[in-house]
Amino acid sequence: MNDASKKTALVTGANSGLGFEAAAQLAEAGWGKVILACRTEAKAEAARVRLVERTGKDSFDLLAVDTSEVASANTACDQLRERGGNIDFLLLNAGAAAAQPQFNSDGVEITWASTLVGHHVMTMRMLDDKLLSPGARIVIAGSEGARGNAPTMKVHDIEKVANDLFDGDRAAAIEALARIKGPYKFVSFNEYVSAKLVVAWWAAALSRKLPAGMTVNAVSPGSAPASGFARNAPFMMRMFMLPMMKVIGPLMGMAGSIETAARRYLAAADLGDNETGHFYATAHRTKAVGPVAIQTWPEYFTDQVSQEAGFEAVVKMTGVTFPDSVSQSL
Ligand SMILES: NC(=O)c1ccc[n+]([C@@H]2O[C@H](COP(=O)([O-])OP(=O)(O)OC[C@H]3O[C@@H](n4cnc5c(N)ncnc54)[C@H](OP(=O)(O)O)[C@@H]3O)[C@@H](O)[C@H]2O)c1
Repeated sequence: MNDASKKTALVTGANSGLGFEAAAQLAEAGWGKVILACRTEAKAEAARVRLVERTGKDSFDLLAVDTSEVASANTACDQLRERGGNIDFLLLNAGAAAAQPQFNSDGVEITWASTLVGHHVMTMRMLDDKLLSPGARIVIAGSEGARGNAPTMKVHDIEKVANDLFDGDRAAAIEALARIKGPYKFVSFNEYVSAKLVVAWWAAALSRKLPAGMTVNAVSPGSAPASGFARNAPFMMRMFMLPMMKVIGPLMGMAGSIETAARRYLAAADLGDNETGHFYATAHRTKAVGPVAIQTWPEYFTDQVSQEAGFEAVVKMTGVTFPDSVSQSL
């Protein structure tokens, strides 16, 4: 993070939990500008007030974006283009696990949409509009849950769904799952961890399309149960599992602080030019805090066919492709 004072970061979901903490840590580390991209401008302004109070700095700009909606992501990017300037660190942190199935205006379920739809559209628009600096670092929030071994959360077997119902077309399978179409029943945390698997695939596929010098990685912050994350979780999880997790989680290597979690994001802003297309999460296979490593297990993380299908599925959900203006200049 050389000469951070000249650099700009944009953080989605900056009004709560890890996004708020990451914005604070960036300002404390001397970043020149931190754009607080929140669901509404009022939420961004409220976050700015708390951040100024905490950090003693006012290096914050505000941006309204609903990360589950294509139109909102486009409007946010229109504003960024009008304001000018480049983004050096794009932190796509926003995400929610809906308790009940809810859909965006294009019929994509909100758990999937909030983490993939707006983030994809913003990234494609920023590339097209040259709003990212040549050495930009893009980080999208992943989760250890995508490994498929977290209790009470099941990752969809996308290859099987594709083979059983879509003639092997994995992008079609992912799109159907994200729209809760066909024989699939919505199960909040199953949708959440499956969307996070697609996050890892999306980042891997995107890394192969980006101009040299720019990187994209999926980074799990690790388990931080004190954030607002489980506010929509099923009743049993909110009432019993989470309070228990807050107490015994740290002893079992299954829960850590918001500060430590946000530091994982900031560490990814310092990764080198060749460290791209990876999914970084807790090195220990059954823990959710501690040292981080590139995830190569289960094997589906590194399967290029699935990675490309993940990207293609998000293109289908949004109608937004990788910009020709960037492909042609490579
Ligand atoms: N905490 C953990 O243990 C953990 C573990 C692994 C991964 N993660 C990931 O970390 C990220 C941050 O979560 P958190 O733990 O900090 O939870 P949080 O406190 O609930 O923060 C989530 C943030 O995302 C925003 N958001 C959700 N949907 C949005 C939408 N449609 N448009 C705009 N903003 C939206 C929320 O805004 P509102 O306040 O307006 O809803 C909030 O600012 C998420 O991607 C989560 O999946 C968290």
